[in-house]
Amino acid sequence: MTPLIDLTGRKILITGASRGIGREISVLFSKLGAVLCLTARGEDGLRETVSMLEGEGHSYYPFDFSKPEGIADFAEKVCRESGPLDGLVYCTGITKDRPIRMTTPELMEEVLRVNLAAFVELVRQCSKKGRYNPGMRIAALSSVASFFGKKAHLPYSASKAGMDAAVRNMAVELAERGICVNSIAPGMVNTEMYREYLKNNGGAEGAENQRLLRRQYMGIIEPSCIADAAAFLVSPAARFITGITMPVDGGLSSI
Ligand SMILES: NC(=O)c1ccc[n+]([C@@H]2O[C@H](COP(=O)([O-])OP(=O)(O)OC[C@H]3O[C@@H](n4cnc5c(N)ncnc54)[C@H](OP(=O)(O)O)[C@@H]3O)[C@@H](O)[C@H]2O)c1
Repeated sequence: MTPLIDLTGRKILITGASRGIGREISVLFSKLGAVLCLTARGEDGLRETVSMLEGEGHSYYPFDFSKPEGIADFAEKVCRESGPLDGLVYCTGITKDRPIRMTTPELMEEVLRVNLAAFVELVRQCSKKGRYNPGMRIAALSSVASFFGKKAHLPYSASKAGMDAAVRNMAVELAERGICVNSIAPGMVNTEMYREYLKNNGGAEGAENQRLLRRQYMGIIEPSCIADAAAFLVSPAARFITGITMPVDGGLSSI
């Protein structure tokens, strides 16, 4: 029987691949046969991810998405060297938690630039003629923060809500080129981002984490669960799914 998810020979660009969820997605996609182009700022992290991959032909391109003016050249180089893409997964993301009184225009701009504007620009560049194969599938890492309010979370939350809105608009417009676009909204995932959150919020036993766990009643999510969802969304098995935000949140958005 043919497996439901088979990425054999599919060229996929994965951003945020130097650690965390992006690394987990990279490793899984390589096991499913994909040929990967990885990016993030940290070259050491990228090299380490590449060393964990199965298969041949993977490449990496250190790049800083806080400089959107460089994305045109970056995308041109990746697509010229790797050939047209079959998939793109945008895992790049930053958090800058501040109360509203400290949420300056500069802070808003910084978070929106990396989490949202760079994503839009990368899709704009990669959906140019000759840079993608028909049926290209795009998945972006959003967050349940897109749906819910929380103290000191405004810039991140707004950036992810913007991403989900961008995905719906891209889906409508890019369907005529055969491109599907979706996002994934994880709850708390066991990565450096979560460990940093614990450090700043009283640790695992602290009231804030315990409050979260009452809502995310299935427990903290392992990065492999997000990788499974991403594999489905970029595979032909999801070919009629576009413009959605898929929660992978251990039940958080159900209560
Ligand atoms: N962990 C969670 O609980 C959780 C929950 C919901 C959603 N998410 C989302 O899932 C995605 C991945 O999260 P994660 O937990 O894996 O985060 P992470 O461990 O902090 O990884 C973030 C990735 O983004 C890259 N990155 C950050 N700033 C960059 C920049 N300016 N230019 C290029 N690359 C940059 C980092 O690499 P370099 O530092 O090497 O550049 C790293 O590879 C994010 O979009 C996050 O918002 C995470």
